[in-house]
Amino acid sequence: MVGVTEPLVLGIESSCDETGVALVRGTQLLGHSVASSVDEHVRFGGVVPEVASRAHLEAIVPTLDRALAEADLTMADVDAIAVTSGPGLTGALLVGVAAAKALALAHNKPLFGVNHLAAHVAVDQLEHGRFAEPMIALLVSGGHTELLKVDDIATDITLLGGTIDDAAGEAFDKVARLLGLPYPGGPHIDRLAREGDPKAIDFPRALTHAKDSERYRWDFSFSGLKSAVSRHVQREQAAGRAVNVPDIAASFQDAVCDVLSRKAVDACLHHEIPRLVIGGGVAANGRLREFLEERTAAAGIEMRIPERSLCTDNGAMVAALGAEVVRRGIEPSSLELAVDSGLPVSQIVARV
Ligand code: KG4
Ligand code: ZN
Repeated sequence: MVGVTEPLVLGIESSCDETGVALVRGTQLLGHSVASSVDEHVRFGGVVPEVASRAHLEAIVPTLDRALAEADLTMADVDAIAVTSGPGLTGALLVGVAAAKALALAHNKPLFGVNHLAAHVAVDQLEHGRFAEPMIALLVSGGHTELLKVDDIATDITLLGGTIDDAAGEAFDKVARLLGLPYPGGPHIDRLAREGDPKAIDFPRALTHAKDSERYRWDFSFSGLKSAVSRHVQREQAAGRAVNVPDIAASFQDAVCDVLSRKAVDACLHHEIPRLVIGGGVAANGRLREFLEERTAAAGIEMRIPERSLCTDNGAMVAALGAEVVRRGIEPSSLELAVDSGLPVSQIVARV
């Protein structure tokens, strides 16, 4: 049960193309609103930073008002403000951080600059309750693909490995573009793959071979896979054959999700931590969820994965991490808090 004495935390997210604001007490989500500028980026085939920043500026106050109204709360009820201060797009991050500082100053509330990647992991607690740490976390978003050891979600996260080139979400988006599908490509590939044969094309699974087990055991690489899809499409076109989009989508998706799930389970077994949590936009993928369910069950690993709407960027994840940070009595960030587009996952709270 969540006690009424637990602090009420306002979370603000603006690192990419979603403006998110939410209110969390303990592990309970009380109100939550997201405004997306994704439609404005579609015609460019990817997020345009200047367009995203302007959209955040327009959306931030109405999104805050909606979240407060949904929770039936006012700023006076809030005990602390958490905001994503990195990683992400600098101009986009600046909007959320400036708003959070203004609110902190105007309402005399402590301010916490928190890590977007750690927040993607923390959000699961809103659905499944507090973590039993340590845990292994697989973080799969548009910009990051990382395997983490989480000893304490608010104070102690170790990076085990990550992608050496493209992130998983980036691979989905690039392959979607290659297949003529709109941005962001992940959900379109997910949908089309259901009509395709995942065994139709044998796409490569990089860094999974015995020779990679020393140096790259916890790392990923998806740029070769993207090139393999591109070559396949070119070969089909050159031979005058129709490109079978569902088969390519299914085969590509299986290659990505096979590697992600295999390495995540391997990390749990190697570190003797039978608990796995998944976070980030790609965690919404149906095939990844299937693979993980099968493989964690077979290996006796307890798996936690949030519902799809909490996987992609939102304010609830920031408030969820903020609530854990506040609960541990961690000192607030300075009002000089800067944004850091490359904030590493091990830095969970940014001081300045
Ligand atoms: O975590 P997120 O919302 O933003 C970042 O922090 O990057 O992740 C966005 C990424 C995009 O690359 C998008 O294509 C991917 O998540 N994504 C998916 C699915 N839904 C979103 N990828 C595969 N399958 C999905 N169902
Ligand atoms: Zn994200």
